[in-house]
Amino acid sequence: MIKKILYTKEGKKFFVKDIDKDYHCQYGFIKKSDLNKKPGSKIKTNTKKELLILEPSFIDVYSKIKRLPQIIPLKDLGSIITKTGMGRDSKVVDAGAGSGALALMLANIVKEVTTYEIREDFYNVVKENIENLGLKNIKIKNKDIYNGISEKNIDLITLDLPEPWKAVMPAKKSLKVGGFIVSYSPTIPQVMDFTEEIKKHKELLYLETIEIIERQWEIDERKVRPKSQQIGHSGFLSFIRKIN
Ligand SMILES: C[S@@+](CC[C@H](N)C(=O)[O-])C[C@H]1O[C@@H](n2cnc3c(N)ncnc32)[C@H](O)[C@@H]1O
Repeated sequence: MIKKILYTKEGKKFFVKDIDKDYHCQYGFIKKSDLNKKPGSKIKTNTKKELLILEPSFIDVYSKIKRLPQIIPLKDLGSIITKTGMGRDSKVVDAGAGSGALALMLANIVKEVTTYEIREDFYNVVKENIENLGLKNIKIKNKDIYNGISEKNIDLITLDLPEPWKAVMPAKKSLKVGGFIVSYSPTIPQVMDFTEEIKKHKELLYLETIEIIERQWEIDERKVRPKSQQIGHSGFLSFIRKIN
């Protein structure tokens, strides 16, 4: 569990897990008595490097979750949440959990999340990630979502699966009228097969498929330009709504 965050003025971040002993980093060490100073305090290592001390927030702990398969990047998570308008009263089902990146982010925002993961080893990692974030409103099931979803009256079902079209029927039964499905797929053939399946169901309305491009910039005095190393392609997001 992360207890403190230390920042250099250049923005380099260190994560302190044990505040009962001195903390060692590339700039030397910080005395344990300094680790208990109030958030915003400036502290110094034994080599006189100045660091700022902060309490960890959700995003600090989230950035250190154990990662297994490819996770959904923040730029795409933002779009899932904002385009479906999920909030404090929403109930969400997610699959496959993978490392839980999407499910954990949703749990920080909505009322409850149930995430399905077919692999037991991944299921165990997600359990650990849930515990480290201290989230109480998220359940994980070691089950194949293609075999059915027992949760009913759901506001949003998120699918990040190799064959999302196989989850359409269970998702349709589990969603409330007005609820959304968002399917995340890295390739267009997956999007094609998924949307073809959606179009067979009169209760489901296909809304759109989008790709979010984020361009990071380097700002250093007059050297202002797009960074040469960027996130490339992540995935396509397809949005569906249950209309009756
Ligand atoms: C790309 S990962 C998901 C990553 C996840 N969205 C995240 O943000 O961390 C896909 C996951 O789906 C799981 N999976 C594949 N088929 C499944 C199924 N039928 N039911 C449940 N999980 C499944 C895989 O084991 C894998 O962990």
